[in-house]
Amino acid sequence: MDASAQTPYLPLAGRRILLGVCGGIAAYKSVMLLRLLTQAGAQVQVLMTEAAHAFVGPATFAALSGRPVLTDFTQGRTGQWNNHVELGLWANALVIAPATAATLAKAATGQSDSLLLATYLSARCPVLWCPAMDLDMYAHPAVQANLNTLAGFGNLVLAAADGPLASGLTGQGRLPEPEEIFEAIRGLVCTKPAWQGKRILLTAGPTREPLDPVRYIGNFSSGKMGYALAHEAAARGAEVTLVSGPTDHTVQSHRITRIDVTSAHQMADACLQAASESQVWIFCAAVADYRPEQVSETKTKKTGNGWNISLVENVDIAATLGKQKQPGQLSIGFALESGLGQAEAAAKLERKNLDLICLNSLDQPGGSPLGADDNQYLLLGKGGKQTPLARNAKAALAAQILDEVEKLF
Ligand code: CTP
Repeated sequence: MDASAQTPYLPLAGRRILLGVCGGIAAYKSVMLLRLLTQAGAQVQVLMTEAAHAFVGPATFAALSGRPVLTDFTQGRTGQWNNHVELGLWANALVIAPATAATLAKAATGQSDSLLLATYLSARCPVLWCPAMDLDMYAHPAVQANLNTLAGFGNLVLAAADGPLASGLTGQGRLPEPEEIFEAIRGLVCTKPAWQGKRILLTAGPTREPLDPVRYIGNFSSGKMGYALAHEAAARGAEVTLVSGPTDHTVQSHRITRIDVTSAHQMADACLQAASESQVWIFCAAVADYRPEQVSETKTKKTGNGWNISLVENVDIAATLGKQKQPGQLSIGFALESGLGQAEAAAKLERKNLDLICLNSLDQPGGSPLGADDNQYLLLGKGGKQTPLARNAKAALAAQILDEVEKLF
């Protein structure tokens, strides 16, 4: 399939988000957050407090959201009323980012002297607070008490991030990065009952098999597909244990617990620990099949005679766990093959006691999927069931694969 024929992946299509922006320096990050939301297909209505206008101009938010920014209860002298009740009912989620100490305090005590606060009190949708302020303000018991009060109301509070602050000090108080807030919003508006509370064990990325303190045998896996699956499962409400080989990716969701490993042996250990408590196992990692028989403790020197390395087979994680799979547990594997590879993938489905295997090929028209943004799959299920997934962004494919997994619940 021609890449230009792909439909864009819009995970928030049809979702309506209210974005409340308060008067803090971190308001500039809300512009990026708005962009992420609209690019994901969400409709966004921005509500700025009066104080926020001193930090970012409303024209920026209005242009990016395609809607006028709302601040006041009425619109100038036109008599137009900005109905906070309607706004509250319209939204699928209300996110306040950045949330200042002043707005947090007012919300915690039920005050409504701004359109944003009145909308908060009226909203029936999930609410996400993203506080941002200087470290001593953030740590103050009064602010913490207000955050606890809001959490007690059933609102989600995203902890401030650690790092350099606008004051020049360093500590906890930064607005989390827009990507992390975006994932938290996704987790509010994309939850699916079938996934809520399910525990997923997922492997991702390559493994590295050491030869000596400076060298290893590795592979070209980037981990992109595994991380896309982890974030998609978390957005649906699952709790994900992500056992990850070395990658450049970061975890953006509070529902993902990442366990970093290097070798196949470490990956197997981590999986064996987490397997029994997980209902779905997804083996997306490119696990090295072999490791060097000898690992030198010191750097191996050049001899002028070449270097013969003897390799021994690693444990097959999917096959090992496949033997202890219980009724109610699902096991999903991947197969990257040269050529079409259907027979090889079907054999792996059988041998590893998988319920579904996602076959992709090194020889597909778009080229090798390793490290690429796009891929295409043929899903093979039990009883010879085949589901082709056309070329698409890995994030879109992650959603399609989980749709197929969901059918097996
Ligand atoms: N896998 C695993 N542990 C290994 C090797 C593979 O858990 N030691 C998992 C992979 O994560 C994948 C599936 O098994 O989900 C198939 O991996 P693949 O490398 O294609 O299969 P192998 O059994 O290693 O066969 P081969 O490399 O010979 O094709």
